[in-house]
Amino acid sequence: MNVADTDRMELILFHSGYRRTQEKEDADLILVNTCSIREKAEQKTFSLFGGLKPLKTTNPDLILGLTGCMGQQDGENMLKRMPFLDFVLGPDQVEGIGRAVDLARESEKSFVWTGFDSEKKYSIPEIPGDLPKKPGPSAFVNIIKGCDKFCTFCIVPFTRGREKSREPDELYQEIRHLILHGAKEIILLGQNVNSYGKRGLTNPMPFHELLYKVAEIPGLQRLRFTTSHPNDFTKETIRAYRDLDVLVNHLHLPIQSGNNEILKSMRRDHTVEGYLELIDELKAEVPDVSLTTDIIVGFPGETDAQFKDTLNVMERVGYSSSFMFSYSPRPGTPANEMQDSVPEEVKRQRLQETIQLQNRLTEEQGKDFVGKTVEMLIEGNSSRPDYSFKGRNPQYWRVNAKGDGSRYHAGDMVEVHIDQASGHGLSGVIQ
Ligand code: 5AD
Ligand code: SF4
Repeated sequence: MNVADTDRMELILFHSGYRRTQEKEDADLILVNTCSIREKAEQKTFSLFGGLKPLKTTNPDLILGLTGCMGQQDGENMLKRMPFLDFVLGPDQVEGIGRAVDLARESEKSFVWTGFDSEKKYSIPEIPGDLPKKPGPSAFVNIIKGCDKFCTFCIVPFTRGREKSREPDELYQEIRHLILHGAKEIILLGQNVNSYGKRGLTNPMPFHELLYKVAEIPGLQRLRFTTSHPNDFTKETIRAYRDLDVLVNHLHLPIQSGNNEILKSMRRDHTVEGYLELIDELKAEVPDVSLTTDIIVGFPGETDAQFKDTLNVMERVGYSSSFMFSYSPRPGTPANEMQDSVPEEVKRQRLQETIQLQNRLTEEQGKDFVGKTVEMLIEGNSSRPDYSFKGRNPQYWRVNAKGDGSRYHAGDMVEVHIDQASGHGLSGVIQ
């Protein structure tokens, strides 16, 4: 979500005449788009700003802005803690970045904008030919903002506000616009895409219907979405996987924990059994589907046995990759009121165990691709020596491929014969 917000701010600012510099020392404007999902992300931001502060002395005209969730959560305090900041903007103020920068140039006084935008439509700025960071073959489209779920550990409903869906017509227009500028794959984006259409639309429309409509847009070759919540994931959406050729065989479905008591305490409102039923149904419809997830270890009260339940579920589902986190208490969330009972050392060990298990699962699945041919959307040049291109297969595995550099280009869909698998990456030769 932050990547999409950052790209959007860059595009808006491009229209105001701003151009990306290579070195921070050359910049007249530096924005740090922040994240507050875990404490570590916040610490990184503070140390980053520590390094930026001296630039204000060498260049007194430099505008320094903090955007994103840390600003939303604690805007005034950010200004107190870092008085050299010119402004603080919440994530719902992305559209106002141009005005904020203009105001910062005119005024000596620092300011904080953290209102939630309840009505305003998104703009769809032109994508100029000389934009250096053009939308690539794979582009994000934000379909829903905010989250109403209030999982007890999570700060997002506080920083990004209530759920609000974008009008379908506006989405089709943006997707057509991106395809016209070279996008082949669209990733529908939201904190909880599956509750799309419930709030904010003139005519309510369920998520699966949006999938069918988007799939009809000419030129679209691949469709993905992220992130999903098991509670809003419908049978109709499973059917969409079967019906729609462009909808790829990959689902990112966070489980967070494999134990029902912990899930309850997290207020996830589903059981492990319910989650597995959904997965089994999807696997029956789409046999080669790959599954990825988010996992938190060391949630307050998590016992060793409850943690083992998480490992068991990982094995049972056979995730191809996971985002694994150690629980981090977040101010203002209900879990923050619970005793953070799992010692840091135990959290670290549990995290290591999940990572080791995931590595094994990934390795086993990677081997299955060796000797086979996969479809790859070329996203750009490979950074690996001896390989020309990088991209992904439909199941979201990273692919590096050898091939004739003058014959193929970013945006091409090619067949790659896989001869090696390493981590969550495959490599081979374009056929
Ligand atoms: N501590 C650790 N991980 C968290 N996540 C969200 N909040 C926290 C927290 N307080 C993880 C969840 C979520 C992902 C985006 O970040 O797994 O799905
Ligand atoms: Fe946070 Fe996701 Fe839960 Fe929403 S559904 S509160 S974004 S973890």
